Amino acid sequence: MPTPFSQGLEQKFADLMGRYPARRSALVPMLMYAQDELGYLTPAAIARIAELLGESEMAVREVIGYYSMLRTEKAGKYHVQVCTNISCLLRGGEELYEHCQKRLGIGNKQTAADGVFSLEEVECLGACSWAPAVQINYDFHQELTPERLDQILDAYRERAVQGA
Ligand code: FES
Repeated sequence: MPTPFSQGLEQKFADLMGRYPARRSALVPMLMYAQDELGYLTPAAIARIAELLGESEMAVREVIGYYSMLRTEKAGKYHVQVCTNISCLLRGGEELYEHCQKRLGIGNKQTAADGVFSLEEVECLGACSWAPAVQINYDFHQELTPERLDQILDAYRERAVQGA
């Protein structure tokens, strides 16, 4: 089967699998690296990772379904994850999420027509002490208000315009 990954990533996978007593332990980092390279986990990517690990595609898909940061659909250049779990909920997380939907003009797991932003409501981001929290790609933003979030989204949009 032809690999959907670059040669560099195939090498990285080989290194990763060699680091664990059980090859399967490399699954989550492999999925993260694959998503970083392709933008999302395509059927070909899932099939290749399952082949490398000696797992079924179903077993790989079950793991993808468990973690909100892994996705099988194309997302925006900047994927905005808004936490509405209990700590964030108590500190305005739901209002922040509603504000975000209006501001971006999209709902849960949708991508804006220009492809700059996608949005997802998520469970705990592990930043409960600094609630309400939002993660955009790999960046955390905490203790947010709608106004502060607007400034942050403006900055990402500016980066997108500049091709960053
Ligand atoms: S509840 Fe929102 S980060 Fe934990």
